[in-house]
This record gives sequence, structure tokens and C-alpha cells, in this order.
Amino acid sequence: MAIRNRLLMCPLGEGLANSDGTIGERQIAYYGARAQGGVGLVVIGSAVVAYPRAAFVANMTAISDKKYLSGLAAMAARVLRIGECAGERFVAGAMRSAAAAASRLARSMG
Ligand SMILES: Cc1cc2nc3c(=O)[nH]c(=O)nc-3n(C[C@H](O)[C@H](O)[C@H](O)COP(=O)(O)O)c2cc1C
Repeated sequence: MAIRNRLLMCPLGEGLANSDGTIGERQIAYYGARAQGGVGLVVIGSAVVAYPRAAFVANMTAISDKKYLSGLAAMAARVLRIGECAGERFVAGAMRSAAAAASRLARSMG
């Protein structure tokens, strides 16, 4: 994976997902702005693989079902369009590669 510089944004729970765990425009704008600002690798805040049971604060990002992929893909597409990479940190579960799947989907969306 090529990254344009050594700037990495640590995962920071931003509480900007929609109340049902889906990715919202506020969240996409937030990460898009970080990529626009020059961050080489954007790592999003903790995401929940057993949503909502394992969520520990409001408005966390859910990745427990395929239905969440389109929002993740839209977010990754925004960040990738700006020329960066999006990573993901997982909460409470095995490292199922939703981020990779979202990234693939984002790339296929052009
Ligand atoms: C407000 C805040 C929110 C954070 N949210 C997350 C998170 O969602 N997921 C995660 O893995 N780490 C989270 N972290 C940890 C940071 O990504 C980072 O690992 C940590 O701040 C490293 O620096 P420090 O030890 O000097 O604080 C958070 C840290 C802060 C201060």
C-alpha cells in the first residue's frame, strides 16, 4: 500500500455516525476534511463488529452486517478520491476485513 506521506491520523471516536450505526454525511465530511488537510493515512475511530450490543457510546460506526458496507465504501471513496488511504480499527471481534471490502467496493465505484 503506497501512502503519500508519513502523516497518520490515530483512531479517534468522533461520534458522528447516524444513530443506527450507518455512516452519515457528517462523518464523511469529517474524514474527507482530514484527508484534504494532508493526512496520509486516515484511521477511523473504533467500529463495532457486534452492533449494537458491543457499542459503548452513542453514534458509533457499525460494521456488523453487509448492509453497512455501502456507507463505509462511500466514505472510503471520498477519502481515496482525495488521494489517501482509509484504515479501520475494530472493536470486540475478529479482524474481519470490512475495511478491505469497503475499499474494494469504493474502488469499483470509481
Ligand atoms: C478523544 C479520544 C478518542 C479516541 N478514540 C479512539 C478510538 O475510537 N479507537 C481507538 O482505537 N483509539 C482511540 N483513541 C486512542 C488514540 O487513537 C491514540 O491511540 C492515543 O491517543 C495515542 O496517544 P496517547 O497515548 O498519547 O493518548 C482515542 C483517544 C482519544 C484522546
